[in-house]
Amino acid sequence: MRFVFLVLFIIISAEVMASGDTLEPLHPKHVDWSFDGAFGSVDREAAQRGFKVYKEVCSACHSLKRIAFRNLMELGFSEAEVKSLAASYSIKDGPNSEGEMFERPGRTSDYFVGPYANENAARASNNGALPPDLSLIVKARKGGADYIYSLLTGYENPPEAFQLGENMHYNPYFAGGGAQFAMTPPLTSDGQVEYTDGTNPTVDQMAKDIVNFLQWTAEPEMESRKSLGVKILIFASLFTGIMYFAYKRIWRDVK
Ligand code: HEC
Repeated sequence: MRFVFLVLFIIISAEVMASGDTLEPLHPKHVDWSFDGAFGSVDREAAQRGFKVYKEVCSACHSLKRIAFRNLMELGFSEAEVKSLAASYSIKDGPNSEGEMFERPGRTSDYFVGPYANENAARASNNGALPPDLSLIVKARKGGADYIYSLLTGYENPPEAFQLGENMHYNPYFAGGGAQFAMTPPLTSDGQVEYTDGTNPTVDQMAKDIVNFLQWTAEPEMESRKSLGVKILIFASLFTGIMYFAYKRIWRDVK
């Protein structure tokens, strides 16, 4: 009898804890990505457009420090394009022979420089919240690509009686708790980024494109990993077949 009470007590207290005032985030919306599945790969054109979205919108607040300019050539940008892009950035270098740090135009081997000098500066400009580096964000969040897409397209008006914090935005997909998201909605109107390949830059399209780009930054070696996996599978099935026939042959006269 005492045991039954104990079990009931545990169940009830778990329920009470789960129904506390922290709102559970919504399950991310599912998108059929070109990079899903064993043979999937990042859509290069979408990722190139996504880079434009990063550069013109997200880079105002988010760094991308694991990506070097020259890496963009893997996405299909030409060397000339990457060179002129790199040169448009000013990179801190040094010290020179006088011991001074100096600024110089970027080279293709340089890495992207973030918008803020340090974390405190980043927080000071964002009401105390820290915009995370985006290089690995797709891998760093449960739900990956679907989650980032859902965040970007999931802002809503808060329900009545919801206590939205100051400078906060209601986003029921945000995993950080209670749908209170400190990021100002970054993609708000169709045509916000101008595309040169004829694709219609709707908010939904821009969100998908930036996710393609961020999938690539998080796992640039994904395709070689997948094709290696396929080769191993082919090898393993051939090997199994050969072993099976060898087994049959060896045991053929044994009754
Ligand atoms: C005006 C500044 C600003 C811009 C522009 C901006 N962000 Fe953010 N972002 C933030 C801040 C601040 C946070 C931290 C929010 C928090 O922790 O509540 C954040 C957080 C994020 C997160 C992490 C969410 C999580 O689960 O922790 C992602 C992903 C993200 N931003 C993607 C983007 C993308 C993609 C763009 C461009 C389309 C973008 N952001 C543009 C300020 C910005």
